[in-house]
Amino acid sequence: MNPEITDMKSTNNELSLHNDQKDKTLNRIFEVDDLNVYYDDFRAIRDITINVFANEITAFIGPSGCGKTTMLRSFNRMNDLIPSAKITGNLSYRGANLYDKKVDPVEVRRRIGMVFQKPNPFPKSIYDNVAYGPKIAGNVKKGKEMDNLVETSLKKAALWDEVKDRLKSSALGMSGGQQQRLCIARAIATNPDVVLMDEPCSALDPIATGKIEELMTQLKEEYTILIVTHNMQQAARVSDKTAFFSVEVEEESDSRTGILVEIGPTEKIFSNPEDIRTENYITGRFG
Ligand SMILES: Nc1ncnc2c1ncn2[C@@H]1O[C@H](COP(=O)(O)OP(=O)(O)OP(=O)(O)O)[C@@H](O)[C@H]1O
Ligand SMILES: [Mg+2]
Repeated sequence: MNPEITDMKSTNNELSLHNDQKDKTLNRIFEVDDLNVYYDDFRAIRDITINVFANEITAFIGPSGCGKTTMLRSFNRMNDLIPSAKITGNLSYRGANLYDKKVDPVEVRRRIGMVFQKPNPFPKSIYDNVAYGPKIAGNVKKGKEMDNLVETSLKKAALWDEVKDRLKSSALGMSGGQQQRLCIARAIATNPDVVLMDEPCSALDPIATGKIEELMTQLKEEYTILIVTHNMQQAARVSDKTAFFSVEVEEESDSRTGILVEIGPTEKIFSNPEDIRTENYITGRFG
C-alpha cells in the first residue's frame, strides 16, 4: 500500500463540510476504517477501525507511545502539519472523506477543535483569546456581538465568574486550571462540532480536574468529545466509550506499532473487557 493521503477514497464532502447546520440525525460522527499513520517509514498506528458517535465522550487510553496522540491528530488533520506524517485508509467525518483534496483543513480545524495537554493561551488578553478564532473566521461583528460570544463561551467553559472583571488582563496571569478552561472556551467560541482533548488535565490539580470533567459532561450535550487520558479513573468517570490502544512488537524486525486492542462501552471495558491485554492494563498489570 502506498502511504499517500491522496490514496484515500473520494466521497462527497462539500455538503457536509459546508453546511453550517449540524445535522443531529447523523449519529455517526467519525468512521475510521483501516487507518495507518506513518512518520516517514515508521508506522505509528496500524489498521485502526473505530466509529465515534455524536454527543458521546470517547476516551483513548493506553501506554505511552501507542499512538493515542497520533490517532487524535488524525481527526482534525493536525498530522498534515507534520511533514513526515502520511496517512492511509479511510477517515470520514459526517459521511465525507476528511482527507479529500477538496476539503479545506482550516475549515476542518474550525469544526473540529483541539485542546492540548499543556494549556497554550496566546499572550493576549482573556477576551482576545476567546475572540481570536471568530475574528479570523470573520463571521462575528466586533462590539456587542463579539462581547456576547466571549461571554457565552466563557460561561460554557465554567470560567466566566472567575474572569468577568478582568477580561482585558493577560491570559498568562491565570492559573493553569483557568488557562486550560480558557483554551476550552477558545476552542468552543468558533462553534465547533467536535472537541479533541489530549490529556487536558495532566497538568492540573484534582479540583481543576474535577471542574474540567464536569464541564466535559455538560459540553457533550452540544458537542462530541474525544479525550486522551492516562488517568483511568477519569476515563471511567467521564467517557461513554473507551478505546484501549497498545504497542505491538514484531519480533523479526523489532518494529513497534500502535494498535487498537478494543473499543466498547466504558462500563464494559472497565468491568469485563474482551481482551486479556485490556484487563492487564486497566488492572495495572501491564508490562
Ligand atoms: N512528529 C513525530 N515524528 C516522528 N515520530 C513521531 C512523531 N510523533 C509521534 N511519533 C512516534 O509515533 C509513536 C506514537 O506516538 P504518540 O505521540 O502518538 O503516542 P502517545 O500514545 O500519544 O504517547 P504518550 O502517552 O506518551 O503521549 C511513537 O513511537 C512516537 O515516537
Ligand atoms: Mg500523547
